[in-house]
Amino acid sequence: MVDSIWTPILNMRTDYTPISQDDGMVEKQPATPAKTSAIVRWSTLIILLCTAVDVLLVFTLLFHGKADIFFSAPADPASPSALEMPSTYISFDLLYDGTVQRNHTMPPIVNLPRTINQVSSLQPSTVFPQWPESWLTVYGIVPINNRRLWVSSDISTIVQFRVLDYGMENCSLALTIPAAGHGEAHLAVSELHEDKAHLDVWALSASTKLDLQTLSWQTRPSRAAHIGRLSASYNQTHQLPSFSCRSGSYQTFELSCAGSGCGIDVTALSQNDVGLYMLQYQTK
Ligand SMILES: *[C@@H]1O[C@H](CO)[C@@H](O)[C@H](O)[C@H]1NC(C)=O
Ligand SMILES: *[C@@H]1O[C@H](CO)[C@@H](O)[C@H](O)[C@H]1NC(C)=O
Ligand SMILES: *[C@@H]1O[C@H](CO)[C@@H](O)[C@H](O)[C@H]1NC(C)=O
Repeated sequence: MVDSIWTPILNMRTDYTPISQDDGMVEKQPATPAKTSAIVRWSTLIILLCTAVDVLLVFTLLFHGKADIFFSAPADPASPSALEMPSTYISFDLLYDGTVQRNHTMPPIVNLPRTINQVSSLQPSTVFPQWPESWLTVYGIVPINNRRLWVSSDISTIVQFRVLDYGMENCSLALTIPAAGHGEAHLAVSELHEDKAHLDVWALSASTKLDLQTLSWQTRPSRAAHIGRLSASYNQTHQLPSFSCRSGSYQTFELSCAGSGCGIDVTALSQNDVGLYMLQYQTK
């Protein structure tokens, strides 16, 4: 048994011949060097071909004025706020595709702004300071007690919401002012002249989160559409016509003075639906 295992090795051993010290040995076996030189020849050819293609590409880039890619720093990676926010409502679209009648009605939900800040046409480059604190709530991270709606002849308020929940994609802006002398715990009124509190509401073309470090009159997003006119009156809620709003999307608005000389400066101080907020109605 042992013998049979070792036999081939032993047989190989019998084939062993010492390496000849004679240089003439190379000439005696011409097949191997020929094969090697063919490989070398083909490899060289391929390397030369690749080099030629590379050189050609580099020159193409240079001729098309793209030389700066060799000399400039790489472009900024996409800003995190520009990245798409994945939906957490996985497969809800299949569940609510309309084939099965779902028999439920949800009351409208109140959505508080994530961002609410001012810009001034008289100080076009001024970045207004951000509110002191935000809170983590069911609405997201929200400045609950610093939601200041301040509009004058030169000051506009920029407000941004993020659409909450699933299938609540019918949105409407609302402005609630409690009765005079009531609701001070929820809304602080610094200035409010009812006869001059008419606000133009504009949808802004901003689909990503606003950058409050740079938000000024000059840098604010451009106006995409006039949504309507909101008035502020004591003991009343004014609401704008509804519009369609995709779940998870950002909705950005500018509130400016309608007509000359208006004055409203109110600050919402609680999670209640006071001041400026957005209502979302059921669509699925
Ligand atoms: C929906 O619910 C209401 C009351 O809850 C009931 O009267 C009605 O029959 C239901 N409709 C369907 C299609 O299930
Ligand atoms: C949005 O909701 C409002 C209030 O319920 C309703 O009047 C309006 O018809 C709805 N719009 C759409 C497109 O569903
Ligand atoms: C607020 O308005 C309601 C009805 O719209 C009225 O009943 C109530 O008395 C008003 N409150 C004040 C303080 O004016």
